[in-house]
Amino acid sequence: MALQLGDTAPDFSAATTVGPIRFHDWAGKSWVVLFSHPKDFTPVCTTELGYVARLRPQFDERNVKVIGLSVDTLEAHHKWADDIKQTQGYALNFPLIADADRSIARLYDMIHPQHDELYTVRTVFIIDPGRKVRLTLTYPQTAGRNFEEILRVIDSLQLTDAHAVSTPVNWHAGEEVIIVPALSDADARTRFPQGWRALKPYLRFTPDPRQPAASSELDF
Ligand code: BEZ
Repeated sequence: MALQLGDTAPDFSAATTVGPIRFHDWAGKSWVVLFSHPKDFTPVCTTELGYVARLRPQFDERNVKVIGLSVDTLEAHHKWADDIKQTQGYALNFPLIADADRSIARLYDMIHPQHDELYTVRTVFIIDPGRKVRLTLTYPQTAGRNFEEILRVIDSLQLTDAHAVSTPVNWHAGEEVIIVPALSDADARTRFPQGWRALKPYLRFTPDPRQPAASSELDF
């Protein structure tokens, strides 16, 4: 059965471009983005991996380790890394798993046979430091992913883990958030002294609680 949100991300041993790893040990106390791409030496994948290498400092800032996977050999990965650096301007700076026997792809349900019997689709798993799966995404092989969206969701997960809020449509860090409906106004007053604006009793917007308080016109 496919992995679901809240499941423990299965552990595995793997050969990677930075050496052998045991996944949970490698993850340590970090968040993890584990993503599959269909195949080495393919165009969309080449652009994705270069872009993820470019975003690496932003993953680091958020205590996130990134790890890619395709069902190719380590030798192919190393050769392809040269192409990525040459064409994308960024060298691989995160591990790529060589899953030539497809054992990890199967463990994480990354091969969707009705789409492609042999190669993985584009999956993303965001895994928290407690090893729980917090987001899954599945993209077709022909569509490159938006890794800024992955960063945006990590921002939301990390914020909503720490505060009784949710994040509205198209939210980005620093923008207003929603006070969870389960919190009474009395409790919200204590937790959100900066106040909120209520469009409905269940729809209360408050400044991002991590931002310094700014004077504004709020209902409470
Ligand atoms: C690509 O990365 O360009 C790609 C890989 C597999 C199927 C289609 C596109």
